Amino acid sequence: MSYEMILVETHGAVGLVRLNRPKALNALCTPLIEELGQALRAFDAEPAIGCIVLTGSEKAFAAGADIKEMKEKTFQDVQGEDFITGNWEVVTTIRKPVIAAVAGFALGGGCEVAMMCDMIVAGENAKFGQPEITLGTIPGAGGSQRLTRVVGKAKAMDLCLTGRMMDAAEAERSGLVARIVPTEDLIKIALGIGAEIAALSRPVVAICKEAVNRAYETTLAEGVIFERRAFHSTFALDDRKEGMEAFAAKRKADFKHH
Ligand code: CAA
Repeated sequence: MSYEMILVETHGAVGLVRLNRPKALNALCTPLIEELGQALRAFDAEPAIGCIVLTGSEKAFAAGADIKEMKEKTFQDVQGEDFITGNWEVVTTIRKPVIAAVAGFALGGGCEVAMMCDMIVAGENAKFGQPEITLGTIPGAGGSQRLTRVVGKAKAMDLCLTGRMMDAAEAERSGLVARIVPTEDLIKIALGIGAEIAALSRPVVAICKEAVNRAYETTLAEGVIFERRAFHSTFALDDRKEGMEAFAAKRKADFKHH
């Protein structure tokens, strides 16, 4: 598959997708979003891949939806084509873990795509924000919802109503970012985390991701029941047996992904 706006690489069992529209700070125009969806789906379907890293450049993960593409659209256009729905949401349908490796700007749709991923690893220079209000609109790819669930109402209101950016330290303090790393080491570290996850049992990793995601979609009692049943289901796997036997025998587990 050849792409024009993204670069796709494989590092062992980790798939790497780089958003690559440097002149527009990786603004997320429709063709870029389509390519991103295709690349993520391809890695999700590839048995040799256990984890995916999504990144941009050192200057920008993505500076948002493409304002120049959007500016002439009417209500009838966006309502008629159900703008954002479908193609952007592919990110949320991927079953393998997706790590957002964020350096520079992650604004508007860029912040929203990062939040659709399973964890955000940030370079020290990362800046997050939902500046749509300054354009006379509001977040449209889940920003007002995911940000609020992750950082709480106070911080989400502050960011969405003023459009200000928060730096990596504030984002980590607020629970948006899992780890902050030196910007120059970001890709190496994100690929390392990806390799660590990819070495674990693929079916168990997928079940675990699904269980954590349930916490956002359901009540605590229902989520705990989901987790319990999912936990029980891991006992059907050879990998569960191998993991526990390896622990007892003081050796490294050799997962076969079944
Ligand atoms: N859409 C289209 N083009 C963009 C863009 C965007 N979101 N962000 C940056 N660009 C373009 C600029 O227009 C500029 O292009 P030209 O060289 O042709 O003029 C180029 O990228 C470089 O940008 P700047 O010169 O502005 O770079 P800077 O370093 O001075 O500033 C910035 C960086 C603060 C990120 C600034 O570019 C900016 O504010 N960008 C817009 C951020 C934004 O408002 N994002 C939200 C978009 S709306 C949205 O995302 C809706 C949604 O929820 C789905």
